[in-house]
Amino acid sequence: MSLVQQSLVQEIDYGTPRSMSEKTVSLSIDGKQVSVPEGTSIMRAAMQTGIEIPKLCATDMLDAFGSCRLCLVEIEGRGGTPASCTTPVAEGIVVRTRSERLDRLRKGVMELYVSDHPVDSLDRAKHPGVDLLDTAAAVGLEEVRYGFDGARHRNPGIDESNPYFTFDPAKCIVCSRCVRACEEVQGTFALTVSGRGFGSIIAAGMDEKFIESECVSCGACVQACPTGSLIEKKVIEKGKPEWSAITTCAYCGVGCAFKAEMRGDELIRMVPYKNGKANRGHSCVKGRFAWGYANHKERVLKPMMRDKISEPWREVSWEEAIGRVASEFKRIQGKYGRGSVGGITSSRCTNEETFLVQKLVRAAFGNNNVDTCARVCHSPTGYGLKTTFGTSAGTQDFDSVEHSDVIVVLGANPTDGHPVFASRMKKRMRQGAKLIVIDPRRIDLVRMPHVKATYHLPLRPGTNVAILTAMANVIVTEGLVNEKFVRERCDWNEFSDWAAFVSEPRNSPEEVAKISNVPAETIRNAARLYATGGNGAIYYGLGVTEHSQGSTAVMAIANLAMATGNIGRPGVGVNPLRGQNNVQGSCDMGSFPHELSGYRHISDDATRAMFEELWGRPIDEEPGLRIPNMLDAAVDGSFKALYIQGEDILQSDPDTHHVAAGLAAMECVVVQDLFLNETANYAHVFLPGSTFLEKDGTFTNAERRIQPVRKVMEPKNGYADWEITCLISEAMGFPMHYNHPSEIMDEIAQLTPTFAGVSFENLDRLGSIQWPCNEKAPEGTPVMHMNGFVRGKGKFIVTEYVATDEKTGPRFPLLLTTGRILSQYNVGAQTRRTANIMWHQEDRLEIHPHDAEQRGIREGDWVKLASRAGETTLRALITERVAPGVVYTTFHHPNTQVNVVTTEYSDWATNCPEYKVTAVQVSPSNGPTQWQEQYDELARRSRRVAATIEAAE
Ligand code: SF4
Ligand code: SF4
Ligand code: FES
Repeated sequence: MSLVQQSLVQEIDYGTPRSMSEKTVSLSIDGKQVSVPEGTSIMRAAMQTGIEIPKLCATDMLDAFGSCRLCLVEIEGRGGTPASCTTPVAEGIVVRTRSERLDRLRKGVMELYVSDHPVDSLDRAKHPGVDLLDTAAAVGLEEVRYGFDGARHRNPGIDESNPYFTFDPAKCIVCSRCVRACEEVQGTFALTVSGRGFGSIIAAGMDEKFIESECVSCGACVQACPTGSLIEKKVIEKGKPEWSAITTCAYCGVGCAFKAEMRGDELIRMVPYKNGKANRGHSCVKGRFAWGYANHKERVLKPMMRDKISEPWREVSWEEAIGRVASEFKRIQGKYGRGSVGGITSSRCTNEETFLVQKLVRAAFGNNNVDTCARVCHSPTGYGLKTTFGTSAGTQDFDSVEHSDVIVVLGANPTDGHPVFASRMKKRMRQGAKLIVIDPRRIDLVRMPHVKATYHLPLRPGTNVAILTAMANVIVTEGLVNEKFVRERCDWNEFSDWAAFVSEPRNSPEEVAKISNVPAETIRNAARLYATGGNGAIYYGLGVTEHSQGSTAVMAIANLAMATGNIGRPGVGVNPLRGQNNVQGSCDMGSFPHELSGYRHISDDATRAMFEELWGRPIDEEPGLRIPNMLDAAVDGSFKALYIQGEDILQSDPDTHHVAAGLAAMECVVVQDLFLNETANYAHVFLPGSTFLEKDGTFTNAERRIQPVRKVMEPKNGYADWEITCLISEAMGFPMHYNHPSEIMDEIAQLTPTFAGVSFENLDRLGSIQWPCNEKAPEGTPVMHMNGFVRGKGKFIVTEYVATDEKTGPRFPLLLTTGRILSQYNVGAQTRRTANIMWHQEDRLEIHPHDAEQRGIREGDWVKLASRAGETTLRALITERVAPGVVYTTFHHPNTQVNVVTTEYSDWATNCPEYKVTAVQVSPSNGPTQWQEQYDELARRSRRVAATIEAAE
């Protein structure tokens, strides 16, 4: 479907934030009667009636500041001309926003600002980038008596150090919107106003270049700047955008909404959308700036094939590539059986695309061998929350955190992994909420400007379940259980069994301290605070799920929330911080081998019958193979072909050698992606994928929020990913006909009770929808389990701590755990192909000074990281962020190969790999291993292919 170019989406700036008061106040503004919530500013009240008062220092993303004096008004019976941004409404007052006196005063203020500005006239056409002149025109300024040269303006020169934006002090009016945005919205406090009077200037850090300061490049300052002093380089280079569409970030599970602002068919900038309910107008460096990968020269745009993986790729037509996929899959099924092929859906692709891949597998391949990357991240969340509450998803919306009094962050690092939600958390903490961090590493939230955790429990990796059970022990034995809640909402007998279990002395903090390395008193205090501190909310990440007891830990969290009554209202809840942009959606869409969309078991006859009737094909009632089982079966010789859409299992799955062996044993591996990823080294057919900018669809974020993804340019590869799946299906003899992804969503809604009310039309009307959305909740469900658990009674589960089989010992005395960094995303395929690479050019191994000294390791030295599974090398970063005995690294660079080291152990319920606990040894090294060199050679080969193709074009 061709692209519809719209106008530029303009958002109203009300000047000051919304008041949450329920009491209203009536007043008159320029003769109009208006009623607004108490605490609203006169500026906002005026804007709500359509009267725009000129402003420079005010914006509705920030608290009023009152520095520019442009927004003056007159109030009958009161002297002077108060600033409307800092003056709240009062009952019965009569306000005038225009008068001769006000016009004169405003012009005077503007005249001073303009005279201090680097322009030589008020001619806007001559100075197109100078937004201040627009405001000058709005107040009717026609002449400037004091000249234009701004001679006394302090101007140390333009700072172009940031790859994405510039700072031109000459254009700055020191309104401090940028400083306040950095403080209030982002919570980083990187900017200040230095100097006084004409000598005032905005300074990053200690008067450093932006890039050298602690600025995290979220861009909130750029968005706040009213003069273009801070501005995107792309706008300077290409000119102002002409049209825009609302879409959703394709990186993390926060799901920030953006205006993709375009000039013709070129993306100029991404501006966070204030009406985006997940991000409320904020963003991080990835979503706002790191989209250049869409045009990267290494992006593959033509299909490629080869007979053997040792051969070079050759470009082919789409027809030939699709024909080859279909004929190979049919041949292989004919020879080895229906179950010898399978597919992997992508958590980077849309709901509609994911739904189609599992439909292809179930209806066209005729088996249930479909899985998704959630296998390696949040599958324990699905299992644990479904068992205890009845739904495989987080319980709250992000707004909920604004009502939390105690926030527990467990096995997550939100400032790096979920930065926009972290900013909302930090804001709540600055307002007084208490924080408990349970993490082996001293993550930033433990102590950063204006945020300090009340308790940090730096537990030994692998002891989550023991710590959570010890917290439960305190809550039960000290009489802190919310008995009323438990009796009304949960199964009392199951609760009683659980309470007896957690009360056993072996689960006391004193006993658990011995295995977790967390002092008993800290565990006790944290439990007391969570149980008694008001609304308690738990946010957790992969540090909970990627363990041999991942599902047990999720259920232990659910137990704590039920026992304390912290579930079923705003401010509380159990909230997985989902990793990928659409990992929630890929799970919802039936990507697991045992479940159809909406988490209904494949063995349920009635559910299968619905799908069979609509699709006209029988569906196997037996669950299919999970990713690790597919690889095992490939090594054993019974699994022969795999279609992988948008997933790099070689880099992201555990035990790389085993993944490589499994892929190498297959007869047809089909990879559909933007770049020749690491898995593509083992592929026979490569199908070029499309970016989120090139297709319509939806993503579902960590709060179950379904949000639109909108096409702003034609797919450079020729097809959106959903169209490619349709082509394969048709060639396999199972045609799927859709004119637009909205029709796929209609089918999802028809087949999935929790999505029954979801349609593109409703998404256009409501902006976004949190499932369940159906007759009972036509506009969606922000907070779940309000009047009862989805499963009926909440189910307490006994969570016996079982130590992982992965033990430290004389050969491997340290524990390795892994995580992400702000500037990069997962395997880095996209972020490494943007300027974000300048912030993280290699993965490093964090090691405590004591452990480093024992091994003779100095900062920056190459070290060998070895486990019983394998070894790799990387360079050392000596830091007290990690406790003695623990080492840590990120996994954004393919040559780090950290998954060569991780083991085959996995969660007992879901097979989610135990990435967060690997016994390792670290020793000095001379450089990369032989495996890494082989690996680098493969990567070099891939790059050569890309270069050859580019040259041929
Ligand atoms: S850089 Fe922009 S936002 Fe910051 S003080 Fe100057 S004019 Fe205001
Ligand atoms: S990466 Fe996550 S936090 Fe950053 S802009 Fe995208 S959705 Fe928002
Ligand atoms: S906008 Fe009110 S004082 Fe600046």
